[in-house]
Amino acid sequence: MKGLSLKIGAFNYSNIVLLVMMVCIRCGRSSIVHPVILIPGAGGNQLEARLSKHYKPTSLICNRWYPLNKDQDGWYRIWFEPSVILAPFTDCFAQRMMLHFDPLLDDYCNAPGVQTRVPHFGSTQSMLYLDPYLKHISAYMAPLVDSLQQIGYVEGETLFGAPYDFRYGLAAQGHPSKVGSKYLQDLKTLIEDASASNGGKQVILVSHSLGGLFTLQLLNRNPPSWRQKFIKHFLALSAPWGGAVDEVLTFASGNTLGVPLVDPLRVRAEQRSSESNLWLLPNPMFFGGTKPLVITENRNYTASDIPDFLKDIGFPEGVLPYETRIVPLVRNVEAPEVDVTCVMGAGVRTPESLIYWDGDFDKQPEMVYGDGDGTVNMVSLMGLQSLWGSEKNQSLKVIKVGGVSHMEILKDEAALDVVIGEINKLNSFSYRPPDHAEKVSEI
Ligand SMILES: *[C@@H]1O[C@H](CO)[C@@H](O)[C@H](O)[C@H]1NC(C)=O
Ligand SMILES: *[C@@H]1O[C@H](CO)[C@@H](O)[C@H](O)[C@H]1NC(C)=O
Repeated sequence: MKGLSLKIGAFNYSNIVLLVMMVCIRCGRSSIVHPVILIPGAGGNQLEARLSKHYKPTSLICNRWYPLNKDQDGWYRIWFEPSVILAPFTDCFAQRMMLHFDPLLDDYCNAPGVQTRVPHFGSTQSMLYLDPYLKHISAYMAPLVDSLQQIGYVEGETLFGAPYDFRYGLAAQGHPSKVGSKYLQDLKTLIEDASASNGGKQVILVSHSLGGLFTLQLLNRNPPSWRQKFIKHFLALSAPWGGAVDEVLTFASGNTLGVPLVDPLRVRAEQRSSESNLWLLPNPMFFGGTKPLVITENRNYTASDIPDFLKDIGFPEGVLPYETRIVPLVRNVEAPEVDVTCVMGAGVRTPESLIYWDGDFDKQPEMVYGDGDGTVNMVSLMGLQSLWGSEKNQSLKVIKVGGVSHMEILKDEAALDVVIGEINKLNSFSYRPPDHAEKVSEI
């Protein structure tokens, strides 16, 4: 009898241990780690479109043959869809992706008769692969999401995504920016909900590229008490804090972003129409007013000459929104007093000046290269360090990963180790952020 009761007692005891362990594993995922929200870069998530009766196709092909597949309500994936590399379809695509600036409304809107939407807001689903049927060539956030899952993050519980319509940007205070402002509002709600469903833990924001500019605006447009309550850390990967010379090429001659076979001039008008592209032109605060970014026989253009440059390339419509909405926006890069870590590629040949000697912007230029991540110049990637280096209340850490490009930062093993290492540190109890700008570390 004695033996039996002892056995039962032991059994009960281990049952309780097991039960406690199970509860800890279930609740543990959500209460031990800080929830992570991923904010992608331009072109980094899928977009869907639907055409209404007001849509005016530019050709019979756009009317009849493109897109090849729609769902029963008429929605189809406009970004990314590989048939756009076929020239006649490229034209339909470009016309439908085009934004229009309305000077009376002082805001941007879609092309007439084209509705767009961002699928799966809140989830990472629409940013893992740009085309879910071409996973091997269109992976975007998938490797980072895999790495996060390996350290215990769970989609929908502790891991969230904030995709957006990356054609739109934000404007300086006092100017409407319907789509971009709505996105900041949705992102704010997502942050609050992620924190609430994780026992009030602060959230870690992880951005790539343009996503970093949106995130910084979100932080600075909310009061310090909100930031302290909800934000643990802002981890910005490859953020173009001061724009990029690559964007000058986009405006002048079009940019295929490495997609083969596409004629850059076919997508140039659409790329010029994008508000976020205007936001990413080189900021004079970082690129200065003396270094020529565009060189022609008759005239050179620095970052301070962008209004003249837009006129001279044949895009005078861009001058008004650039001067009124973008210039005052990018002049104001305030420190949010939230802990920030910038991780960036370095040592990759990056366009620094474009030479159009005969002034023909329809031709691809000769390039002079400098340091950066292949897309964004070093002076822009290091922008926050130069601005906030001596701010007392701003903790800022900068990590350069040598030889890693703008996109590889989301796939390269060494880069992912750095990102995951930082997130692990943030989740450990002993973590203390630096109380001022830290020395740059190079890997
Ligand atoms: C433009 O810049 C180049 C390189 O800095 C310089 O050699 C040239 O003289 C400049 N041209 C003009 C027209 O100012
Ligand atoms: C730093 O923060 C303290 C306390 O919040 C504040 O009093 C001070 O003005 C801030 N300093 C700067 C340089 O912003």
